[in-house]
Amino acid sequence: MKIEVLTLFPEMFEALNVGILKKAQQNKLFELNVTNIRDYSLDKHKKVDDTPFGGGAGMVMTPQPLHDAINAVDKDHKCLRIYLSPKGETLSQNLVKELAKEENIMFVCGNYEGIDQRVIDLDIDKELSIGDYVLTGGEMAAMVTINAVSRYIDGVLGNSESTNEESFSDGLLEYPQYTHPQVFEGLEVPEVLLSGNHQNIAKWRHEEQIKITKERRPDLLK
Ligand code: ADE
Repeated sequence: MKIEVLTLFPEMFEALNVGILKKAQQNKLFELNVTNIRDYSLDKHKKVDDTPFGGGAGMVMTPQPLHDAINAVDKDHKCLRIYLSPKGETLSQNLVKELAKEENIMFVCGNYEGIDQRVIDLDIDKELSIGDYVLTGGEMAAMVTINAVSRYIDGVLGNSESTNEESFSDGLLEYPQYTHPQVFEGLEVPEVLLSGNHQNIAKWRHEEQIKITKERRPDLLK
């Protein structure tokens, strides 16, 4: 998979060059290219924002640098072009799995009060939100999405970190995990996990999943 990012803050995406995702990029399992939108500004001061028509607070990103950057990076429109915005479809694990099937994805990050609507109308395929709250820009939302999607790219996770048994994978939250020591601060590991009886362990874990999902996310059980 090839991932293109358009942003005014390229340095933020260095946060994706650590741990599992760093290894995945080194192993060419996916490629991440980050482009500075400001490089495409034709303004003599490299300006990328202006006041909103109709008045109101803040600044809006002007269309020229964005439109030129998008169409220079993705000339033949091979990318699914995603604009991060609180107005978009909310990200879910199912949507993450769908996005992981794409060959080329572009994430366009807005700042200030957002981008000129004409760029969305002309150049964007999908608006995506990571939740019902407002961030100062789309960068963190793009990073959250890239992180979640990359876990579904073949080879990124080892067997020991598979996506099969985790929250949401079967519509339920995950069961609790325990490791050594057997007793910590007086708290013991549930006995069934020490029994070696895999059928009983599977049954206990499933029951725990139902219990915690009922308590915390009853909406998932419907
Ligand atoms: N930009 C600002 N807030 C956002 C959100 N919640 N999701 C995606 N992009 C955003």
